[in-house]
Amino acid sequence: MPQDAKNPWWSEEYGFFGNFYMDGDASQEGYLIEKKQSLKERTVTEVVGVVKLLSLKDGASVLDCPCGYGRHSIELARQGFEVVGSDINSVHLQKAIDAVKAYSLNITFSKESMLDLQYSSRFDGVINMFYSFGFFDTDEENEKVLKNFFNALKPGGKFLMHTDVNVPRILSGKYKEDEQRNLLTGKTLRIIDSYDPQTKRINGAWIIQSNGKEERKDYSVRVYTKEEFEEMCRKVGFSSVVTYSGWEGGEYSENAEDMIVVATK
Ligand SMILES: C[S@@+](CC[C@H](N)C(=O)[O-])C[C@H]1O[C@@H](n2cnc3c(N)ncnc32)[C@H](O)[C@@H]1O
Repeated sequence: MPQDAKNPWWSEEYGFFGNFYMDGDASQEGYLIEKKQSLKERTVTEVVGVVKLLSLKDGASVLDCPCGYGRHSIELARQGFEVVGSDINSVHLQKAIDAVKAYSLNITFSKESMLDLQYSSRFDGVINMFYSFGFFDTDEENEKVLKNFFNALKPGGKFLMHTDVNVPRILSGKYKEDEQRNLLTGKTLRIIDSYDPQTKRINGAWIIQSNGKEERKDYSVRVYTKEEFEEMCRKVGFSSVVTYSGWEGGEYSENAEDMIVVATK
């Protein structure tokens, strides 16, 4: 696994997440290959989809974990939902806190690891957005995260996991493994991804270049197939699980760029 002497790749100390990630996340091209949307447009599309697919009623409570710098949490709170944004990274959380300071929204940001969440029957909805599942070394740890999300839901509450990584799409060669983007900061980002069928992980790197200098940070994420993820949902206790290929709720397709799983407690 990528890490420095003491810290796993996803930790604040390693430095993939934080200012490095926020730079790289804001590109002129947008993130997804097929939908050329700005980050802001993409966030609004995603939040409209979350509200629809989770059937959130007015004022419902939502846990957004990991919330990053709060793009979905803040948009959900603006729409009147009660939101807890949870993440381990203080730089991301501070950016989110600063963004809502001037407004009176029903939103709280909490620094915690998704491996150690302690919520019990607290939320109507839990969301895990944008390729934020499978960070840990073992399937047991990743399953523990899913169990924590299950525990956080009220009976009848719904969990949504969204990723833009779909294993059949990778295997058919449609997933871009080496690409370059122009960042809003004027820097360039190169992304190199490689899927290892033995470990079922994507091992990748972001390389941000500016003024002839480059900074590289590596990552490694376990990528679950639709079938594996649905099975894990049932194992931790969810009663029904449906997988979609997009925010409009279209039926799952192996060719789709998005994979969205909705599981009901
Ligand atoms: C790919 S980003 C996505 C953030 C957000 N969902 C979004 O779409 O903008 C993944 C996030 O996971 C957070 N993270 C990494 N490891 C974590 C952990 N162990 N517990 C909680 N959050 C973690 C990072 O700090 C980062 O904000």
